Amino acid sequence: MQKPIKGFSKLTKQGKIEWLTHQFFNSPEEAQTLLKSYWHQEPKTQKLHDEFIENTLSNFFTPFGVAPNFKIDNKVYALPMAIEESSVVAAAAKSASFWFARGGFKTTIVSTTKIGHVHFMYTGNFDKLNQLFEAEKARFLADTESITANMRARGGGILNLELKDKTSELANYYQLEAKFETCDSMGANFINSCLEQFAQTLEELVAESEMLSEEEKDLQVVMRILSNYTPECLVRSEVTCKVEELTEGTEISPAEFAHKFEQAVKIAEIEPYRATTHNKGIMNGIDAVVIATGNDFRAVEAACHTYASRSGQYRSLTHCEVTDGIFRFWIEVPLALGTVGGLTSLHPMVRFALDMLQKPSAEELMSIIASSGLAQNFAALRALVTTGIQKGHMKMHLLNILNQLEATEAEKKIIIEHFKDNVVSHSAAVQKFCEVRGIENTQQILKNR
Ligand code: MEV
Repeated sequence: MQKPIKGFSKLTKQGKIEWLTHQFFNSPEEAQTLLKSYWHQEPKTQKLHDEFIENTLSNFFTPFGVAPNFKIDNKVYALPMAIEESSVVAAAAKSASFWFARGGFKTTIVSTTKIGHVHFMYTGNFDKLNQLFEAEKARFLADTESITANMRARGGGILNLELKDKTSELANYYQLEAKFETCDSMGANFINSCLEQFAQTLEELVAESEMLSEEEKDLQVVMRILSNYTPECLVRSEVTCKVEELTEGTEISPAEFAHKFEQAVKIAEIEPYRATTHNKGIMNGIDAVVIATGNDFRAVEAACHTYASRSGQYRSLTHCEVTDGIFRFWIEVPLALGTVGGLTSLHPMVRFALDMLQKPSAEELMSIIASSGLAQNFAALRALVTTGIQKGHMKMHLLNILNQLEATEAEKKIIIEHFKDNVVSHSAAVQKFCEVRGIENTQQILKNR
């Protein structure tokens, strides 16, 4: 068996590439050429990317697309979307145009509070500890003054501190729960720095206390970390129109469409199998903009899915109501985002994306991204309750199939023309490709790859 490599991180970039390609590739030269072909032509820009993470060898491209015509709170945006899945950008753009003509997206920032915890074990008297904590709260604020100075100057900081008894769920387990306002930054570093100081202050307070006996001083901090579950950093986005205005693009009557659409949402509200796919479609729209704007999509995903499960069952993040001839469709999602700090000023394409959005505040970005999720869900459900998604999806996917088969531009043109009036499937695309190229099957092409 191969031995583990020691000191890999200390090798130069070239050294890492040499080691890797000689260990795992039949043709190290070829592998190296490929890796290097994805380097940025400008060494300074490449160095910037190299330094985002550790052991960087190259870059991994994801398409950067744009969905224009988003009217959100009466302002018009073109949304930057970084995503590899075909149809997502087209769906967003289609929904955006549809709702542009019907008043656009209207959003509400419900709240922007973020949260973090010092998780600790304590075997003493909690009432006494809590009394001590409440009496000395100012000390926690004073001890974090240097950390919070900038944030306070921007209008944010620590909002609340509280001890929580969690012993009914885990023996001896308590929390110091802290709430924060982090303004236009996502605030992870700020929150974690505060929490680390809170833990130290708490330990010192207990150790120094004359109120607690020696036995009552047994407090052990387990972790200090922000929570990515941010149900109090919440945004709502809504679209609404008269049922009779739900015309464009549907082959059924507006009333039937509204009814089927509402049922589709209700199904996702009660059926976790459907809710998972339904919400996945929403995340197509959310993640693409989250990534393009340099935000942490893993954090956003985690928060949204926990929020979708808050009733004890996983449910839809969107809701729909059709009453008195009015169609209402809305989303409510926790989105902890930043438009300053992190990658926002470092990554040139993130800067570009934020400029494209006219330098939004974090709250404005919450509204934009929630609307992107809603738009995506509207497009998916509109297709699902009418023609089905495969028609549109496979048309978009056709190019991927043809690129896989290394079709020439001339071949692509003929095949795309053919499928304007024919149903696309993988086998139909392959068959047409063979016909155009004049071959029996694609075995040889795929073998050579
Ligand atoms: C595909 O990425 C997303 C959809 O499956 C979402 C949905 O079914 O609602 C189309």
